Amino acid sequence: MAIEIKKIYIDYVGYKDKEVLINGWVRNNRSQKEFGFIDLNDGTTLETVQVVYEAQTLENFKEVSKFRVGSSIVVKGVLVLTPQMKQPFEVKAKEIILEGDSLDDYPIQPKRHSREFLRENAHLRVRTNLFNAVFRVRSVVSFSIHKFFQERGFVYLHAPIITASDAEGAGEMFQVTTLNGKQPEENYSNDFFGKKANLSVSGQLQAEAYALAFKNVYTFGPTFRAENSNTTRHASEFWMIEPEIAFADLKDDMALAEAMVKYIIKDLFQTCESELKFFDQFVEKGLIDKLRKVLESKFAVVTHKEAIDILFANSKDFDVKPEHGKDLATEHEKFLTKFFNGPVFVIDWPKEIKAFYMRMNEDNETVAAMDLLVPGSGELIGGSQREERLDYLEKRINELGIDDKDLWWYKDLRKYGGCKHAGFGMGLERMIMYVTGIDNIRDVLPFPRTPKKCEF
Ligand code: 4AD
Ligand code: MG
Repeated sequence: MAIEIKKIYIDYVGYKDKEVLINGWVRNNRSQKEFGFIDLNDGTTLETVQVVYEAQTLENFKEVSKFRVGSSIVVKGVLVLTPQMKQPFEVKAKEIILEGDSLDDYPIQPKRHSREFLRENAHLRVRTNLFNAVFRVRSVVSFSIHKFFQERGFVYLHAPIITASDAEGAGEMFQVTTLNGKQPEENYSNDFFGKKANLSVSGQLQAEAYALAFKNVYTFGPTFRAENSNTTRHASEFWMIEPEIAFADLKDDMALAEAMVKYIIKDLFQTCESELKFFDQFVEKGLIDKLRKVLESKFAVVTHKEAIDILFANSKDFDVKPEHGKDLATEHEKFLTKFFNGPVFVIDWPKEIKAFYMRMNEDNETVAAMDLLVPGSGELIGGSQREERLDYLEKRINELGIDDKDLWWYKDLRKYGGCKHAGFGMGLERMIMYVTGIDNIRDVLPFPRTPKKCEF
């Protein structure tokens, strides 16, 4: 069995002068007349192993010296410590076998490639250090999120992916149908589900039902939005984490969000130290400092009204003029995170720009909602206390002209043991962008789906 390169790096002194078997992909191959060097990476770490091969000792020296970048190989050799060199050790090859050749037109050559170019080669870009680091962090953060909630006794709910309720109002939806245009519009009785069905934009409403049985639950799954907005922060398919907590208000909700964000970052310092160093060096200078500060800070809190006042008072040259009662533009979010020099909760939003289920405040103008804004990613989290009073809820549904026939079960939750409850949603990709410094959501999704892009 071959040894993982990561394992060797952890204890290379222990392998001193021992024979090792390693495999991986050729990152680089520099050969001269009598000897050559292969940089070998096996994906288990960002580090490569330098494999040295010599004409005198290697039977197939000629062949090996022509191995191309991207080929997969198996190497048997002796590990030698090299304290005077850049790498702490190298492997002197006794045997090198080609497992899979790589053709001359392999796109990932050892030079700098643009992110756009790599995006077009999403199936191969993962073999670069950058994307190896990004997607390892994505994996680790996902696990970390599960740990956070499981340690606190939250129940993991798999919310449905196909749904018939357009209740969220979170944006355009992808329709799920087997009619294929054979049916007159708006008649779905012959459709697969006998009604109009869509891919879910959020698992929140179902999570509320479960929270009112388990007290604390969370969803973590794919989410779909058909907005035709080509921004660096929106994808058509993304992953969302939605905790929902019973007998809890907006303050509890914010405390949970803050604890979760800090937990993820703290965990990352322990599990992905070399990846963070890599991002700090090549993607966002000062990233590690930024994340350390987050751990030590208490997140700022401002009301929407205060936020608009701050925008008015501090800057005049926004493209979009900040306005009371209106949503925050990206440039406003950016300014606010700079102003507070870190994450900031904006709470108590005008009811007109928020969803029907958010709890009405006493002023009858604003709702108990919160957005957590962070530098770089903008809105990382959106959440609220839910309207648990049936009469208030029905009033909002009517005011907004929402067809409530699909919401009967949601209203039941207010009829049978309803209680104060709250929750939020965090886009996983926004979190990954925040902790890696990557500025385009397409580069933190394995195979991104955005308008006109559904390759691979
Ligand atoms: O603010 P949103 O739309 O809130 C909800 O869906 C609520 N049901 C959440 C809840 O209270 N349970 O979305 C929540 C988060 C956003 O803050 C953002 O991080 C992410 O989901 N998000 C997107 N991420 C990538 N691409 C998109 N198109 C996104 N839309 C929202
Ligand atoms: Mg939102």
